[in-house]
Amino acid sequence: MIPIALLIILLSCFCLDFAVAIDSSITSSQLIRDPDAILSNGSNFKLGFFNPADSPYRYMGIWYDMPSEKAVIWVANRDNPLKDSSGIITISEDGNLVLVNGQKEVLWSSNVSNLVNNSTSAQLLDSGNLVLRDNINRAIVWESFQEPTDSFLPGMHHGIDQRTGKKVQLTSWKSLSDPSTGSFSAGLIHQNIPEIFVWNVSRPYWRSGPWNGQIFIGIPELKSVYLFRHNFTFGFANDWTFFALTAQGILEERIWIKWKDNWEVGFLNLRTECDVYGKCGAFGICNSQEKPICSCLEGFEPKNAEEWNRGNWTSGCIRRSKLQCERRNITGKVGKEDGFSKLNKMKVPDFTEWTSPATEDECREQCLKNCSCIAYAFDGGIGCMVWRSINLIDIQRLPFGGTDLYIRVANSDVDEKGKKDVFVSPLIKGMFALAICTLFLWRWIAKRKEVIAKLSATNVNTVKLQDLPLFQFEELATATNNFQLSSKLGQGGFGPVYWGRLKDGQEIAVKRLSKASGQGLEEFMNEVMVISKLQHRNLVRLLGCCVEGEEKMLIYEYMPNRSLDALLFDPLKKERLDWRKRFNIIEGISRGLLYLHRDSRLRIIHRDLKASNILLDEELNPKISDFGMAKIFGGNQDQADTGRVVGTL
Ligand SMILES: *[C@@H]1O[C@H](CO)[C@@H](O)[C@H](O)[C@H]1NC(C)=O
Ligand SMILES: *[C@@H]1O[C@H](CO)[C@@H](O)[C@H](O)[C@H]1NC(C)=O
Ligand SMILES: *[C@@H]1O[C@H](CO)[C@@H](O)[C@H](O)[C@H]1NC(C)=O
Ligand SMILES: *[C@@H]1O[C@H](CO)[C@@H](O)[C@H](O)[C@H]1NC(C)=O
Ligand SMILES: *[C@@H]1O[C@H](CO)[C@@H](O)[C@H](O)[C@H]1NC(C)=O
Ligand SMILES: *[C@@H]1O[C@H](CO)[C@@H](O)[C@H](O)[C@H]1NC(C)=O
Ligand SMILES: *[C@@H]1O[C@H](CO)[C@@H](O)[C@H](O)[C@H]1NC(C)=O
Ligand SMILES: *[C@@H]1O[C@H](CO)[C@@H](O)[C@H](O)[C@H]1NC(C)=O
Ligand SMILES: *[C@@H]1O[C@H](CO)[C@@H](O)[C@H](O)[C@H]1NC(C)=O
Ligand SMILES: *[C@@H]1O[C@H](CO)[C@@H](O)[C@H](O)[C@H]1NC(C)=O
Repeated sequence: MIPIALLIILLSCFCLDFAVAIDSSITSSQLIRDPDAILSNGSNFKLGFFNPADSPYRYMGIWYDMPSEKAVIWVANRDNPLKDSSGIITISEDGNLVLVNGQKEVLWSSNVSNLVNNSTSAQLLDSGNLVLRDNINRAIVWESFQEPTDSFLPGMHHGIDQRTGKKVQLTSWKSLSDPSTGSFSAGLIHQNIPEIFVWNVSRPYWRSGPWNGQIFIGIPELKSVYLFRHNFTFGFANDWTFFALTAQGILEERIWIKWKDNWEVGFLNLRTECDVYGKCGAFGICNSQEKPICSCLEGFEPKNAEEWNRGNWTSGCIRRSKLQCERRNITGKVGKEDGFSKLNKMKVPDFTEWTSPATEDECREQCLKNCSCIAYAFDGGIGCMVWRSINLIDIQRLPFGGTDLYIRVANSDVDEKGKKDVFVSPLIKGMFALAICTLFLWRWIAKRKEVIAKLSATNVNTVKLQDLPLFQFEELATATNNFQLSSKLGQGGFGPVYWGRLKDGQEIAVKRLSKASGQGLEEFMNEVMVISKLQHRNLVRLLGCCVEGEEKMLIYEYMPNRSLDALLFDPLKKERLDWRKRFNIIEGISRGLLYLHRDSRLRIIHRDLKASNILLDEELNPKISDFGMAKIFGGNQDQADTGRVVGTL
C-alpha cells in the first residue's frame, strides 16, 4: 500500500514538474515573478528579467538562452525601468499583457485597446516571438515581433505591418548599459523600390541601395545566404543568426558559433567610411580603395575646392558645363546632344524612381529625351531606374557587385569612351568591352611587374599567373558557403582564410585578399610568386588562384589538422603529441627550410616562420605556409641587408 501511494505522489510530482518545464505561457493565474523566467517550447529563448551590464535597473525582456552569453533581443519597459526586483509579468483585467512593480503600477502594457474578450494568454514561441492570444478563438491580438527593440529575427516582418498598419522598425539602445530608446533607427522603406535605411534621429545615416529581387544593390555580399521571403521576412542559412542595431548606429549580423561558444559579428553595414550616407556630398562619388576616398563625378568639379582639398566633402560637387538641353531652353540653339558617362560597380544614388521601359536602350532613350532626367541605370531585376532630383547623393563604387550607372553630362564633358558608348552598335560595344578588359589585364600585369621589380632587383624570372589553374569566383563562393563566418578557418597574413569543398568533393583552403588592407596586394603577389615556383612535400601546395575584379584569392589544399600552434598550445592535444611525432614535425620543417635556403631554384628567406604558419596534414606531416613576407635572393647571394624588420613579434 505504502509504496503505491508513494509512487502516485512521485508520479504527480513528476507530472507537475514536467508541466512547468514545458509550459511557456502566461495566464491571469500563472504569472512570472522576478527572478523567474519561462523558456520557449524548443528552449531557444527565455522571457524574464535582466540587468544590462553595469546597470542597477531591471528590465523585462527576451533573450537567447545561451549558457555563456545572453543575447537580449527584446525589451518591454525600455524607457520605464524597474528600480528593484519586485517586477511581475501577468495578464491584466482588461486582457492585456502587463508588467507591474511592487506598488502595482503598470510599467509596460501590450496596450491593445479593443479586447472584447478579456480572457487572453501569452506565450513565448520558439522563434523568439511573444504572442498574446484570445483564449476563445486563439487569434493573435498582439505580438512582440511587431514592436521590436533593436533586433531583427528570422520570421519578423519589416515595413508596414499588414494587420495593424503600424510601421515596424528597429531602434537602438542608448548604450550597452541602457536599453532606452537611442537615436538610431532602422527600417525598410517601400515607397518606390524597397530599401533598408538607418537613420540618426531623422537624418539618413546608411542605406542599402534598392532591392532587385535577390539582393540590395549596395550590399551584394548578402546574396543567397539570406532567403528573403514574402514581404521581407528573413530566413537564414544559419539557425542562430539575427541582426542588431547597435547604439552607434551599426546594423550587424550576429551569429552563434557553437564550437567557440560565442557570438560573432558577420555582416556589418558600415564597413568603410564610404558607407556613411552622403559622405562625399552631392555629385560626389566615394571609393574606399582610393585616397582620398571622395572624387567628383565626371563632368563635375568641387563646389568649394579649398574645403574639398582639405577633406571636407560636405558641400559636394557642381556641374562644370551646362547641359545642352538646358542651354537650348534658354538660347533656342541646337548644339551637340548631351551624353552619358558610365560608372560601373555602383551603389546607385538615393531618390531612385522606377519607370516603365523594359530594355536598357529604351531606358536611355527616355532619359535622354527628358531634360529633367539626370541619370539612369538598368538592372535586370528592377528594370529602368531614373533620377530627376536636383542632387545625386550617396554614390559609392563597390569592390564587387553593383550596377552600371549613367550620368548625364554635357557633350563637351563626355570623355572618349563615354562618347563612343553613346552611339556605337552592340558589336562595337562588345569589342570595346574586350578592349577595356585587355586594358585592365594589361594594367594589372604592369602593376604586378612593378611589385615584382620592387621585390627583387635580381634576375628572378617573373611568374606567369596564367600558368596557374584559375578558379571562378562563383565556384569559390559556393564552395565556402558565400565566405560565411562559420567557414572561416583563421586570419592569414593578408586576409581571412576559409574552408571550402569543391563540387568534386575536394576540400580546399581559400585565402582571400582583404579589401581593406593596402599592404595586402604586395604580400599576395609575393606569395604567388614564391609559392608557384616551389614544390616540396614540406611546403603547402597551391592549387590555383582567382582574380576577378577586385577579388583576389589563393586556393590551397586543405590541411585537416590545422596549424602547429593549435596543437602545441592546446592542453589536451599536446599530451597526445609524443616525441616521435614531434621529431617528425621538426625534421619536416627543417627539410622544408633546407629546400627554401639551398635546394630550390631560388634562395628564399621566409621571414615569418612560426608555429601558426606550419600546417599539418592528416598524418601530421608539417607544411610551411604563408609566404607573404618571404624574400627572394639571387642564386649566388649569401648576404643581404634588410631595410626593415618584418614578421611577428
Ligand atoms: C512543443 O513542441 C512539441 C514538439 O516539439 C509540440 O508537440 C508541442 O505541441 C509544443 N507545445 C506547445 C505548447 O506549443
Ligand atoms: C473580464 O472582465 C470582467 C468585467 O469587466 C471581469 O469581471 C472579469 O474578471 C474579467 N476576466 C478576466 C479573466 O480578467
Ligand atoms: C496606449 O495606447 C494609447 C492609444 O491607443 C496611447 O495614448 C497610450 O500612450 C498607450 N500607452 C502605452 C503605455 O503605450
Ligand atoms: C469573443 O468571444 C466570442 C465567443 O464568446 C466570439 O464569438 C467572438 O468572436 C470573440 N470576439 C473577438 C473580438 O475575439
Ligand atoms: C547623430 O546625430 C547627432 C545630432 O545630429 C550628432 O551629434 C551625431 O554625431 C550623429 N552621430 C553619428 C554617428 O553620425
Ligand atoms: C504580403 O503582402 C501581400 C500584399 O501586400 C499580402 O496579400 C500578403 O498577405 C502578405 N503576406 C504576408 C505573409 O504577410
Ligand atoms: C565644410 O565646408 C562647409 C562649407 O563648404 C563649411 O560650412 C563647414 O563648416 C566645413 N566643415 C568643417 C568641419 O570644416
Ligand atoms: C524649359 O522650358 C520650358 C518652357 O519654356 C519650361 O517649362 C521648362 O521648365 C524648362 N526646363 C528647364 C530645365 O529649364
Ligand atoms: C519629364 O519628366 C517630368 C518629371 O517626371 C515629367 O513631369 C515630364 O512630363 C517629362 N517630360 C516629358 C517630355 O516626358
Ligand atoms: C589529424 O587529422 C586526422 C584526420 O582528420 C584525424 O583523424 C586526427 O585525429 C588528427 N590528429 C590530431 C592530433 O588532431
